[in-house]
Amino acid sequence: MVYNQSVAVKTPLQQKNILLGVTGSIACYKAADLASKLTQAGAQVDVLLTQAAQQFVTPLTFQSVTGRRAYTDVDLWGSEAHVLHIGLGKTADLLLIAPASANTLAKLANGIADNLLAVTALAATCPILVAPAMDGGMYTHPATQANLAVLRQRGVIVVGPVEGHLASGMSGVGRMVEPVELLGHARRVLGRSGSLAGRRLVVTAGGTQEPIDPVRAISNRSSGKQGFALAQAAIDLGAKVTLIAGVTSLDTPVGALRVDVRTAKEMQEAVLAALPQADGLIMAAAVADFRPAAPEVHKIKKEGGVPQIRLEPTPDILAAVARYKIETGWQGCTVGFAAESRQLLENARQKLQAKKLDLIAANDISASDAGFAVDTNRIVLLYPEGRVEELPLMNKAEVAAVLLERLAAIIAEVPRNTA
Ligand code: C5P
Repeated sequence: MVYNQSVAVKTPLQQKNILLGVTGSIACYKAADLASKLTQAGAQVDVLLTQAAQQFVTPLTFQSVTGRRAYTDVDLWGSEAHVLHIGLGKTADLLLIAPASANTLAKLANGIADNLLAVTALAATCPILVAPAMDGGMYTHPATQANLAVLRQRGVIVVGPVEGHLASGMSGVGRMVEPVELLGHARRVLGRSGSLAGRRLVVTAGGTQEPIDPVRAISNRSSGKQGFALAQAAIDLGAKVTLIAGVTSLDTPVGALRVDVRTAKEMQEAVLAALPQADGLIMAAAVADFRPAAPEVHKIKKEGGVPQIRLEPTPDILAAVARYKIETGWQGCTVGFAAESRQLLENARQKLQAKKLDLIAANDISASDAGFAVDTNRIVLLYPEGRVEELPLMNKAEVAAVLLERLAAIIAEVPRNTA
């Protein structure tokens, strides 16, 4: 047994240099929240404000949340002027312009470099992500659309705008995408060259629900948190993710293709449909083992007395995948979870073998700080050759990052799925 008490977990934003360009739009106030979120996620955030942005917010606002100096056009002509814009543009891992006004988009599209942000954007060698925010009419104007088309064609990533309430009091397309979602886009861009780049993974998450009648169902306490964290961790390493979600209220990680299902049967169909193009499957979902054999079409009335509900087994998805492997020669990796309240390792080892897995995460659900619904988890990883790796108590995002790192090492040995 390997006791792994010091697991270094790094998310894609940690120690990354992010340049945040802020331009003149009322959405500037949200940019402060974005700067704060990026900083809290471990990034070094250098903010560049245009003159118009300073009409809405001050450099001090950003300095207060990033703990770093915020730059304005005064710096373009200051003592460091000759190196500043080149230096910022060269050392950044990502230039994120949020909000991006119609004016700034026009400058970027035409190579105009008459302020610190525009000069820096021209000198930047890193990926550029823009989040437009403006009045609906300005956004749909052919000039703005043409500028965005030019920028997209050059590889600039354009996120939003979305529909909703605008500063004019009207409703339309022009609102900046929310900071939490922009954070997700930044993660996806920064993860693009990770160890799972070019790989496709299927991740299942959440519990399934098996109907008793149109109102009632048999379900379980799974929240989907661990599965969604695994999907995010896979995206962080550059994978394309199909997230097959059972019953959960969680938001989809940016970049994941989400397929919602309800029953074990629906989940099996979705998994088998996605598998042929995939390099791997992580079955983190808590799939029901039994379902009512004959769900009632109409609501069962209590006047009829206590019903006898006969159960039947649901399909075992991982067993079906093991058969699929043998029948088709599919070479993908499969990872399972074993949620157990007793004899954790014995049960997990047995499942690892029976379901022909490349890795199983054994999860002791009897502890109050691990397993269903809580934010932390304590797992033991078991490998087919007998290796056992015990991870300390970590939050589910950290567990996911470690598990995906281990999976990436296994997948590296598997030929790329070109289907
Ligand atoms: O044998 P058990 O069902 O407890 O194994 C748990 C693992 O199998 C999990 O990875 C779970 O997602 C998966 N599973 C499955 N199909 C089922 C039940 C569980 O693939 N019907």
